[in-house]
Amino acid sequence: MSFEFVDPEIGFTSNVITDPHRFVGRADLIQESINALNSSLGLIAIYGKRGVGKSSLMRQIQALANGNYELVRKAGLNHLLPTKPRKYYTVYYACDSIISGAQDLVARLCNDTNEEDGLLRLVPDGGKRLTEFSRTAENSVGLDLKVVNWGAKGQEGSKYTSAVPGDIIQTFRNFTSAVVESNNRVFGRRDSVLILLDEFDVIRDKQGLGSLMKSLSSDKVKFGICGIGQDLSSLIADHASVGRLIEQGSIFVKPMSENESIEIFKTAERLFNGQVRFEENVVRQIAALSEGYPYFAQLIGKACVSNANNRGTNYVDQSILTLVTESMRSGRAFPNLEKAYQLAIGQSEERALLLTLLAEQADDRAEYDASLGQVFLSRSRSSAQELGVDYMDQLLPRLIEERYGPVLVKVPVTRGSYEFTDPVFRAYVKLRHIGRSPR
Ligand SMILES: Nc1ncnc2c1ncn2[C@@H]1O[C@H](COP(=O)(O)OP(=O)(O)O)[C@@H](O)[C@H]1O
Ligand SMILES: [Mg+2]
Repeated sequence: MSFEFVDPEIGFTSNVITDPHRFVGRADLIQESINALNSSLGLIAIYGKRGVGKSSLMRQIQALANGNYELVRKAGLNHLLPTKPRKYYTVYYACDSIISGAQDLVARLCNDTNEEDGLLRLVPDGGKRLTEFSRTAENSVGLDLKVVNWGAKGQEGSKYTSAVPGDIIQTFRNFTSAVVESNNRVFGRRDSVLILLDEFDVIRDKQGLGSLMKSLSSDKVKFGICGIGQDLSSLIADHASVGRLIEQGSIFVKPMSENESIEIFKTAERLFNGQVRFEENVVRQIAALSEGYPYFAQLIGKACVSNANNRGTNYVDQSILTLVTESMRSGRAFPNLEKAYQLAIGQSEERALLLTLLAEQADDRAEYDASLGQVFLSRSRSSAQELGVDYMDQLLPRLIEERYGPVLVKVPVTRGSYEFTDPVFRAYVKLRHIGRSPR
C-alpha cells in the first residue's frame, strides 16, 4: 500500500472509550459486569488506579445496560448473556470536587440536563414530550436515548411537577420512580434505571453516601460508582452499611496484561483500515513500556503514527519507535506529562535523579496486593549516594507537596514509603531517563 498521511486519532485515543469496537480485552471484567447488571438488586463499584481504564469500562457497562451487546459478541462471550438480559435507562454523571456530600450529589443529579446522559432527560413532565427523544448516533454508540428538543418548560429540576421543594431526596425518588413506566410507554420494555457515577472518589465528604445509595436502590433503581482506589473502602467510606449489596458488583480494574496491550495495536490497525501497520517486535516493546496502562499505550501509539507520517511511511518499525523514545527522553513527546515532570523536579537535576530512582524501584508485581506501586525511600538511598545525591531528604518535600502535583503521596502506616499518584507518570519518568548514563 502506498503512503498516505493518516490522522493518528483514527486508531488511537486518549479519551474514555464509549465505542465497543475500540474497547480491548477485559473479558473477565465484562463477565463480572454482565453478572452485576443482571442481578435486580445490588450496587456496582468499579475501582483501580488512575489511567487503568475504569471510566471506559463504565461506559461499556452503560452500553450493555442499554441492550447494546456488540462488546459481548466481539469478545466471544455471547454464552454469558441470560436469555432475557435486564435492560436499563441509564444516567451517567461525572462527579467533581465541588460536590460536598450526599445531599449535594443528589441535587446535582436532579438538575442535570445533559441531553445524552442526564437524569432530567428521562423524567416525564408536561413540558417535555417524550417523542422528542432519539437514539444517539455513531461516535457515541454506547450511549442511551438523547433529547433532541425540550418543550416549553424550563430545564431545572425544581420546575418539574414531581419535584418536592426543600426535599431533594424525595424529589430524586419521584423522578426515578417515574422514569421506567413512562419511558416504557414510548420505547418498549426496560426494567430499571441505572445511575452511573464516575469520579466518585473526588466527592469531599463521603460519609453516608453508601447508606444513601442503599436506601435509594430498588428493583427500579440501581447505582454504579467508579473511582480511584485500591479497595472498596477507599471508594465507599461507609461500605459496611452497604453490606451484601456490593458483594456481586465489586469490580477491580487491574493493569492490562501484555497481550491486551498488544491487542490495542491490532485494534488500531483495524481502525486504520490496514493503512498503518506496526512491526510485531515494536508492539511488544511498547506493550512492555506501558506497564499495563492503556493510556500510555494509546499515547505512544499516537506518537508513532505521527512520527511515521513525518517520515513519509505508514509502517511503524524500530526506527520510528526509536524516534519516539528519543523525543520522550528530551521531553518533547508528551507535553502534559512533561509539564507535570518539570513542575515536580523544579529545575533540580538531583531531584530528577531521585525521582527516577524511586520510579525505577522494582515492583513486587503482586497485582492484587494493596502494596502495589509502593516505593521506599530507604531502598534508593545507597544508589542516590553513589550518584552524588547526598541530601535526599531535602529533595523529597517538593515531590509530595500538593501545589507541585503532587507526584508522590505518603503511604500511611508504612514508614518511609510513598506511592506515585499517577502510575502513568511513573512509567513516563522511567522512559524519560532510559539509557541515560549516570554521571
Ligand atoms: N479496554 C480498553 N482498550 C483500549 N484502550 C483503553 C481501554 N480502557 C482504557 N483505554 C484507554 O486508556 C486511557 C484511560 O482510560 P480511562 O477509562 O479514562 O481510565 P481511568 O478512568 O481508569 O482513568 C484512555 O486513553 C482510553 O482510551
Ligand atoms: Mg476515569
